[in-house]
Amino acid sequence: MTKKRVESFQWLLLRLPSLNLLVSHLLYVKWLLNGKLGSSPHIHAKKVVIEHAKKYHVHTLVETGTYRGDMVYGTKNVFKQIYSIELSEALCQRAQNRFRKYKQISIICGESSQILPKILPQIKEPCLFWLDAHYSGWITSQIGGGY
Ligand SMILES: C[S@@+](CC[C@H](N)C(=O)[O-])C[C@H]1O[C@@H](n2cnc3c(N)ncnc32)[C@H](O)[C@@H]1O
Repeated sequence: MTKKRVESFQWLLLRLPSLNLLVSHLLYVKWLLNGKLGSSPHIHAKKVVIEHAKKYHVHTLVETGTYRGDMVYGTKNVFKQIYSIELSEALCQRAQNRFRKYKQISIICGESSQILPKILPQIKEPCLFWLDAHYSGWITSQIGGGY
């Protein structure tokens, strides 16, 4: 597939959450069938985060790298409070709109190493960190480059 086609498909996934969910599940099944080889897909990461939250009775999630907000959406009924930090202004604003009706979710725009020291003093209980801020191609950001 050409880079342009991949990017068009990614735009579609960004706009159609149900198609995005279907693709996530297909990638998960493919990964299982391949003997769990290669980087773990989003569904697996979400399972790991939820398992740890339940095992250690943690009610606050701090995520670096929001992207589409899939982890936030998939764990919003597990955590009482979620903070997610996104460097890309466009992705951050999109996620802020997506989750604006959820009082327990804060999507914060900025660079995670700058934002984390500002939000951590507000958190008075154990929290689970999902450190996932990295450049992932396409419209995602990275320090000193990307969008
Ligand atoms: C793999 S995606 C995150 C996926 C998301 N955590 C999930 O599980 O659904 C990585 C995201 O990190 C963002 N990013 C890259 N560097 C960052 C930084 N220094 N601070 C915050 N976000 C960053 C990128 O723009 C991208 O959206």
